[in-house]
Amino acid sequence: MKRILICYYSRTHSTKEVCENIKETLDESFEVTLRPISSVHDIKDYETVIIAAPVHGMNWHQTAYDFVTTNQAILKKKEVIYIALASLAYQGRNFWQKKVFKSLERPSKIVNPMETAIFGGLVSDTPKIVGGILGIPKNAKRDQRDWNMIEAWKKNLIKHL
Ligand SMILES: Cc1cc2nc3c(=O)[nH]c(=O)nc-3n(C[C@H](O)[C@H](O)[C@H](O)COP(=O)(O)O)c2cc1C
Repeated sequence: MKRILICYYSRTHSTKEVCENIKETLDESFEVTLRPISSVHDIKDYETVIIAAPVHGMNWHQTAYDFVTTNQAILKKKEVIYIALASLAYQGRNFWQKKVFKSLERPSKIVNPMETAIFGGLVSDTPKIVGGILGIPKNAKRDQRDWNMIEAWKKNLIKHL
């Protein structure tokens, strides 16, 4: 049975919850291990590695990027999938949304992923002026995760695994 590692960085747990949800689905067909990225030291036993982290400062979290660079030689021989969560993925000014959607380009140049996903994340408490600059609507939902989108993405992913 194919062995899949899902590793994540998550400060406020939204990425972790998405990973738990993905694991639940993949568990039906694969042997899946879920771990915080900081506790992963050996990836040789897995055919597929899913790496998930939020976008911070318009970049995929540095912890995830560092993981890709450190393990690039071995990751290049595996099926690799990148997931990013970002509060500005599907709201806010176009300028920032474009930056969020480019956040996976940097790690993709190190190790080319088989699939990627960018999901909405949690909206942090920001001063009004920052919310205005980013274009976050005043009545924005705090949790921008779209579970239907995540469901559809998983269905498509399974076809490729
Ligand atoms: C310090 C910090 C910086 C952030 N920077 C961005 C950003 O540049 N763009 C964005 O869309 N969201 C940004 N966010 C929102 C996070 O990506 C979002 O809340 C995500 O769901 C957090 O994931 P986690 O709950 O797994 O930690 C930031 C959040 C924090 C706390």
